[in-house]
Amino acid sequence: MKKIFSTALVLMLMFTLLAACGKKDAETSATKEDKKITVGVVQTNANESDWRTANTKSFNEAFATAGFELKMVFGEGDHAKQISQAQQLIQEEVDYLVVLGLQSAGWEDVAKAAKTAGIPFIMADRKLDLSENLYTAMVCSDFLAEGNKAVDWLKTQKLDAYKIVVLGGDTGSSAQLGRSKAIEDGAKANKWDIVFNQNMKGWDETLAKQAVADLIATGTKFTVIYAENDNMARGACTAMDAAGITYGKNGTVKVIAFDANKWGLQNVLSGKFSLDVECNPLHGPRIVKLINSLKAGEKVEQNAYVDETTFDINSITQAIIDARKY
Ligand code: AHR
Repeated sequence: MKKIFSTALVLMLMFTLLAACGKKDAETSATKEDKKITVGVVQTNANESDWRTANTKSFNEAFATAGFELKMVFGEGDHAKQISQAQQLIQEEVDYLVVLGLQSAGWEDVAKAAKTAGIPFIMADRKLDLSENLYTAMVCSDFLAEGNKAVDWLKTQKLDAYKIVVLGGDTGSSAQLGRSKAIEDGAKANKWDIVFNQNMKGWDETLAKQAVADLIATGTKFTVIYAENDNMARGACTAMDAAGITYGKNGTVKVIAFDANKWGLQNVLSGKFSLDVECNPLHGPRIVKLINSLKAGEKVEQNAYVDETTFDINSITQAIIDARKY
């Protein structure tokens, strides 16, 4: 009798254990399935430009809609800080790492660490100097192509004299490198003069305004402002206003800007800016789509450039501006 009782007890214990394991496995797999995708995003700066504000907003909104947990950090102009932030996110075992680099160079160790950790490394906005075996995919702008669009447009203007002021963005970012290479190569090929060529830390509008004001004070004549974003172009216009220099549609200076924020396009329509080259910041939905494809095991394009266009006084309308998302 005693033997039967103890066998029954052992059996009962076994069934209880099996049920518990099964439940745990079920819970584990359910937890795994329900676990939110966590994405680490290493952003450049919080208040860098209107473009950057739209870009950050796009990540926040798209990730919230997708149900992703977003861990966004800001380098605030410090490349070394971005590197350590990326390493920290890898330590925290995020599911995906998205990097928008202040600098193009210096990302190999982070990319290798992500690869070792099995974390897909995605570049957004600005392509980094990485071999294709070190990143999973990218959603970036082709900044050289953007600059070449501006050069091609400038050629059509057939100015009496090409005396160009270049207001560059953050030194060493792929956005600055691409856009500056385009105008520098274009000036060489077309025998144009670059009378000023300086990069503004943080793409800063005030720095651009001061640089143009100082240049005007030296008596240097110029016929083109090539500003590598809308904010710096607006800074240049403020300096020209203060000096009584006319620009835009009926002025002596052509103003070229990049980004095509809504307000920048309004300046094209009003004749202040002569050309605004689109650099589209709405990467949130693109990255969500990419991550969902990766999660589903689908093959993704490794090097995806964002489609972008240009706007000048002849092509812009209020309806176009009103329809824009940023
Ligand atoms: O990387 C894109 C550039 O960064 C934009 O042209 C500029 O406005 C932003 O700050």
